[in-house]
Amino acid sequence: MSETVEIFEMAPRDGLQNEKRAIPLDEKIALVDCLSRAGFKRIEVGSFVSPKWVPQMADSAAVFAGITRRPGISYAALTPNLKGYEAAKAARADEVAIFASASEGFSRANLNCSIAESLERFAPVVEAAKADNVKVRGYVSVVTDCPFDGPTPPGNVARVVAALREMGCYEISLGDTIGQGTPESVTAMLEAVMNEVPAARLAGHYHDTAGRALANIEASLALGLRVFDAAVGGLGGCPYAPGAAGNVATEAVNARLIELGYETGLDAQVLAEAAGLARKMKGQGDV
Ligand code: HMG
Ligand code: MG
Repeated sequence: MSETVEIFEMAPRDGLQNEKRAIPLDEKIALVDCLSRAGFKRIEVGSFVSPKWVPQMADSAAVFAGITRRPGISYAALTPNLKGYEAAKAARADEVAIFASASEGFSRANLNCSIAESLERFAPVVEAAKADNVKVRGYVSVVTDCPFDGPTPPGNVARVVAALREMGCYEISLGDTIGQGTPESVTAMLEAVMNEVPAARLAGHYHDTAGRALANIEASLALGLRVFDAAVGGLGGCPYAPGAAGNVATEAVNARLIELGYETGLDAQVLAEAAGLARKMKGQGDV
């Protein structure tokens, strides 16, 4: 039997969060419902962050309330602080994610605080989630390159990963936020990180800004990673690289994984349908 690789679907959250046009609620719900038919085990539905910071995610509670949940799928939400966690709990998110940065510059830009302060804010989120039996995933951003601080030393990533492990994150997703990583820099980063956390508890979250995400996934597969984050239609983009490609496209990752002999459990036809919805939401229906 071939080995399984899981794709964690990000389009409703990471894909949409940078879209300037206010996307109607029913389109967001339709996207999640379509994705629920594709075979994913985990779908990131939205985030409970400041609506001033990310206006597109302001209706995440309504999205959670409107979707048709399928058994066996974990519907996830980002929660930067306790306020976000309480909102995610009220929306009945199945799991939540805290998100830290490997660089001080990006931490400031994304969370308005230092790395250490962000970890302090996450601690009560994790405590509350533990008490509620809600799983917590961790993200680390800018794992190879930061738009403010330049190349990220692998040891800095490993330190934040270790902190998230200590807090009790069940899995830590490594974000190449601006898609500048190369197979070489991703490999060096993973080698440092795997001194702290085994591959089985890591995920690759590679944006495709420079067209290298698939190569970076292959480099990560070689080191034992078996979970990758992706967004149908390649939805999303980086606010620091306007016009650049966004998240790596789920359908492209799925096709490559199948080519490489892995099983993903995903239905390519439903993925194509979801990718079509995603592209329309981005105003790229004809692309
Ligand atoms: P702040 O301004 O320092 O926070 O922002 P504050 O505590 O001073 O609060 C300011 C206002 O926000 C207050 O409202 C709070 O009530 C409100 P006001 O009194 O002004 O009306 N507020 C909230 N509202 C709703 N939900 C909340 C919440 N918290 C405070 N949870 C804060 C700090 C963390 C809130 C802000 O910086 C923020 O929301 N940041 C989130 C940014 C974000 O969502 N980024 C994108 C996700 S991360 C990502 O994409 C990377 C990833 O994909 C991996 C990768 O690619 O690298 C995961
Ligand atoms: Mg991302």
